[in-house]
Amino acid sequence: MKFFVDTADIEAIAELNAYGMVDGVTTNPSIILKSGRDIMEVTKEICDLVDGPVSAEVVALKADDMIAEGRKLAEIAPNITVKLPLTWDGLQACKVLSGEGKMVNVTLCFSANQALLAAKAGATFISPFIGRLDDINLDGMELIEDIRTVYDNYGFETQILAASIRSVNHVLDAARIGADVMTAPPEVIKKMAAHPLTDQGLAQFMKDWAKTGQKIL
Ligand code: G3P
Repeated sequence: MKFFVDTADIEAIAELNAYGMVDGVTTNPSIILKSGRDIMEVTKEICDLVDGPVSAEVVALKADDMIAEGRKLAEIAPNITVKLPLTWDGLQACKVLSGEGKMVNVTLCFSANQALLAAKAGATFISPFIGRLDDINLDGMELIEDIRTVYDNYGFETQILAASIRSVNHVLDAARIGADVMTAPPEVIKKMAAHPLTDQGLAQFMKDWAKTGQKIL
């Protein structure tokens, strides 16, 4: 499973990158707002730091304007993935930009039918939002499962990018189903390392080691 980090926080990306945990980065207008940075500048910095795909989202609503914004964002670096909303206009922009050889991430996906359309329009990634479905008492993981089935039935190469991941259990469930990629905030990725039995076991080892009176270095 590829790990994308859902943030524009340069320090957090650099830290996780040093652990080999960053296969790519995803951003959106809310994340750019949170960063307090200029979209072009911060996205360029992220692209310089990370080898994998970096999603930068258009904000236009009409296909022609989305295409123009997508082309501009794609000029930032070769690893830019143009992020487009799953609307009828977004699908048209997806078809055009993917036809130009650009990576495209179709976002705000909430149904398997939407995901089917994105695959047919040539999306590189489809981003189903798990947490936001859970928020309204629907099953986000069921959507990942349905998309996996539909894509596998027909051999679509569009990668399932599980997004709106809020917990470590979301990561595991998406991995069990076979999502190709997941994108999560840095703190969720770091939490995956935590286990109380690891802490307890380590504390006991340290106690016993101190009793031996030995040193390794
Ligand atoms: O990757 C999508 C993500 O940024 C949305 O997450 O937690 O705002 O639903 P959330």
